Amino acid sequence: MARITYIEYGGKARTIDVPNGQTVMEGARDNGVVGIEAECGGACACSTCHVYVDPAWIEKLPAKNALEHDMLDFAHDPDPARSRLTCQIRVDHALDGLIVHMPEKQI
Ligand code: FES
Repeated sequence: MARITYIEYGGKARTIDVPNGQTVMEGARDNGVVGIEAECGGACACSTCHVYVDPAWIEKLPAKNALEHDMLDFAHDPDPARSRLTCQIRVDHALDGLIVHMPEKQI
């Protein structure tokens, strides 16, 4: 389990305990977090689960694979340093305390 804080574009924050094995996207979707749409259901085919990772966490996350890297080109206003697709980040205890910021909009 990891306690993850999702911060909406307007600044509203939700902190959720996400079970190990789920993705960061599933933790948001299953708890009604506003701002992560996940239209493809986690297949890395839509880029609507885009977030900006808090700077303190960028180096702690597993690296992007090639598919995530390519799909981020379709996200709204991606930041090469901070943007990630939450469906590609699987939760384990090492992510406890993770903070992600939602973009102004998805696509
Ligand atoms: S849910 Fe579609 S790319 Fe992540």
